[in-house]
Amino acid sequence: MARFEGKTVIVTGGGSGIGRATSRLFAAEGAHVFAADITDAASETAAMIRSDGGKAEGVKMNAAEPADVKALVDRALAATGRLDVFYANAGVSGGFAGIFEQTADDWRHILNVNLIGPFLAIQAAAPEMAKRGGGAIICTASVAGIRSGAGGPAYSASKAGVINLVTVAAQQLAGTNVRVNAICPGIIETGMTKPIFDRAAERGTTDKIGQLNPLRRYGVPEEIGRVALFLASDEASYVNGHAVVVDGGLTSSMPVVPPKK
Ligand SMILES: NC(=O)c1ccc[n+]([C@@H]2O[C@H](COP(=O)([O-])OP(=O)(O)OC[C@H]3O[C@@H](n4cnc5c(N)ncnc54)[C@H](O)[C@@H]3O)[C@@H](O)[C@H]2O)c1
Repeated sequence: MARFEGKTVIVTGGGSGIGRATSRLFAAEGAHVFAADITDAASETAAMIRSDGGKAEGVKMNAAEPADVKALVDRALAATGRLDVFYANAGVSGGFAGIFEQTADDWRHILNVNLIGPFLAIQAAAPEMAKRGGGAIICTASVAGIRSGAGGPAYSASKAGVINLVTVAAQQLAGTNVRVNAICPGIIETGMTKPIFDRAAERGTTDKIGQLNPLRRYGVPEEIGRVALFLASDEASYVNGHAVVVDGGLTSSMPVVPPKK
């Protein structure tokens, strides 16, 4: 039996990259998916799922706007009478400008989407899940939230915030059977990393992307999506308040100079 048959799943950032791939994986396992995005691409994701025989609706919304997040949860509840999973995945990178280039407004925008967005998702979804016996909330953090070097300062701080947020939320939801976890992806080929991949393609260095991790390759969105499905499923029924790193082993070591052969 499909793991998410009869379940309702919201995915923000569902119009591209990790969000689109994960929406499709959830739908392939029977979920009714609400793919939400600030662009019209959410409807494209939903159309793809429906043409594959799945159940999906595209919702155009801003994951950083409290009223939009509440309306998204209300819409899923009105349509299906339940909410089992909220994958708070929408994010913006803000580029690689450093501390002395970024402005306070850059920080406000990046924190608004990447950190306040997941906070709003938890605030809107968790009480509805709790009323119905429980649920799973997953937030996309990043290896950038663990240490520097994988994004600009505001991006890194926002993702560190997400890693902390899931620990606090899991504790504050004690006794509700709502689990809250994060995923920390390494380098994944998506809309966000397209400039990196385009630059490498121009230089003929695509095979160098991801060379610093022991798997020596970059990841694809489905490799994050499959972890999101695991965390959302009953198989992860005892995983709570945790950030799962999915980076090919990138952050498993201090930098090492290989011995001369
Ligand atoms: N690609 C990577 O290497 C990587 C690594 C670590 C973490 N992440 C995180 O993964 C998540 C998904 O990003 P992706 O890599 O799939 O990039 P992506 O750009 O392909 O997808 C992100 C989606 O989020 C949407 N979005 C942006 N702001 C929004 C808002 N305010 N409201 C609703 N939707 C909004 C975008 O329109 C886009 O469709 C992000 O949180 C990102 O920070 C990505």
